[in-house]
Amino acid sequence: MITLKKENLEKIAAEHGLSAGEIQKESALIPGYLKNIETKNQGFYKIIDDQTIIEKINSFAINAEDKFDHFVVLGIGGSALGTMALQQSLTHLFAQPRLHVLDNIDPEIIKEIQDTIDLKKTLFIIVTKSGTTPETISQYMYFRNLCQNLDLKTSDRFLFITDPNHGLLRKIATEEGIITFEVPPNVGGRFSVLTAVGLLPARLLNLNIENLITGAKNMRKSFLSENQTENLPFLLASIQYLLYKKGKTINVMTPYAQKLIRFADWYGQLLAESIGKDSIGITPISALGATDQHSQSQLWNDGPNDKLHIFLKVENPSADMSIPNIHPKEESINYLNNVSFNQLFQTEMEGTMQALSKNNRPNIEISIDKLNEETLGELFMLFEGATAFLGEFFGVDAFNQPGVELSKQITKQLLS
Ligand code: PA5
Repeated sequence: MITLKKENLEKIAAEHGLSAGEIQKESALIPGYLKNIETKNQGFYKIIDDQTIIEKINSFAINAEDKFDHFVVLGIGGSALGTMALQQSLTHLFAQPRLHVLDNIDPEIIKEIQDTIDLKKTLFIIVTKSGTTPETISQYMYFRNLCQNLDLKTSDRFLFITDPNHGLLRKIATEEGIITFEVPPNVGGRFSVLTAVGLLPARLLNLNIENLITGAKNMRKSFLSENQTENLPFLLASIQYLLYKKGKTINVMTPYAQKLIRFADWYGQLLAESIGKDSIGITPISALGATDQHSQSQLWNDGPNDKLHIFLKVENPSADMSIPNIHPKEESINYLNNVSFNQLFQTEMEGTMQALSKNNRPNIEISIDKLNEETLGELFMLFEGATAFLGEFFGVDAFNQPGVELSKQITKQLLS
């Protein structure tokens, strides 16, 4: 269950000239905005009803788990960031991973992955909705060539997640009998984490994908509610929009949970690529509590007052340890007596928020009880829904990305 603190909203309203009524007034827009989103035929909140995807993923994963030692996901942008967020959030960070995401064409990193895996025991999962993205296609050709040089059967160790009808990968899959999963045509890359794009790697990481979907469905109820106090995605979008109009053109997402830092990166893409259009846009920054208190918070408190801060908190992390009092006579560290790491962590977050408020910098707290599949599913849907509403507030198409497409085309021209 996700909470957006009511005191935060009242505080923001009081401190930033948003009268309580101003936020409230926006709620009249919900039915029209929901209708517009529906008209755009976007599947990100509908796809979670498709039980056949879950079944297909589960039956594939049961065989794949024993057959392969490593899984390598090749993809970029919306085809990779959701999987990276899932892996960082819900798996042990220091255990040797079986799944690697290669979301770049930096040759040094490609070589490091190559050195880590045994090609004979690796499944390559190629994720590209368009089937033409140069970064992903070049990675695919590289690893496929390595496999062919060893006479390894391609159809056994390559899997494609791509458009059901179009693109190069679809063509190759049809010709060669390579197993495929679909990116539904009405779900854009950065909105696709709850399709096979994120769910298949998540299942291979042994995550409970049913619970991810349950969480997303819970939040979808909120997203579709016409009552503003129940519609958390709308409430969030209305704060972002109203503060943007008051000059807060940057949103800083700061999880006080190291495991959520890739989630903040995932959100950065969602916000930037969905809303950055027609000379409008909110610039995302991802930061990490408490680490960035010691790098960015000087700017936050004392630099330009152009940011809305979104803090993410996990109320009850799965581990907490008390800080031992091994220097009882040292008065300078007495304040740590009988304090646990989580208390220190959460108090630092509270201190950071209070300092920002004292400096008249708007900040809100979004908290979850525990970090697990269900709450992560809720968070994905919360921010996807809020982004869809932001598109309506700003009057831009949140679901296209003409700027990205242009740079892809130019790169191709430059190379040919
Ligand atoms: O959100 C988007 O549409 C983009 O970020 C894409 O995910 C990214 O450009 C990769 O595209 P594709 O999945 O077609 O390879």
